[in-house]
Amino acid sequence: MSLLPLHLLGSPVLRQHSAEVKIVDDEVRRLVGDLFETMDAARGVGLAANQVGVPRRVAVVDADGDRFALIDPVILETEGRVTAEEGCLSIPEIYGDVSRPERIVVEALDQDGARYQKEATGLKARAIQHEIDHLDGILFLDHLSLLKRQMLLSRWRREHKDDTGYTKEVQAASARSE
Ligand code: CO
Repeated sequence: MSLLPLHLLGSPVLRQHSAEVKIVDDEVRRLVGDLFETMDAARGVGLAANQVGVPRRVAVVDADGDRFALIDPVILETEGRVTAEEGCLSIPEIYGDVSRPERIVVEALDQDGARYQKEATGLKARAIQHEIDHLDGILFLDHLSLLKRQMLLSRWRREHKDDTGYTKEVQAASARSE
């Protein structure tokens, strides 16, 4: 497994509609392993493949004690509505309140290619929806009001005006100083 560089806001791959996987082979399993490793090192609760530059419908989630891969995920049911703060590993240090369905049922393939369904609420439901958004080229910023989005975007541009590219290396968890 390898730690992969994260693509940050501005990278075109984050706006791409990712392609279906259909067949879970060794390459997809390797991608799932790399996503878990990169998510853990970056201390995220979820990570989608296009955030590491791979536009395929693969994501991983680790929320509320449940850790799983989502391959070709589809949301089958939604219920209720709840607003909570979200962030994104591709938009570090930027947060906003996003309203989403409170309870969902998702269907996906796991890393063995087996189809499963999962019911989720709370942080897990939010993380799954956030990751599926990524696969469709949608960022949490898109759910905010125009005013709020413009405010956060201008802050982002100010803080990142000296960036030379759209990727960021993730430090291995063991190499951290904190
Ligand atoms: Co994200």
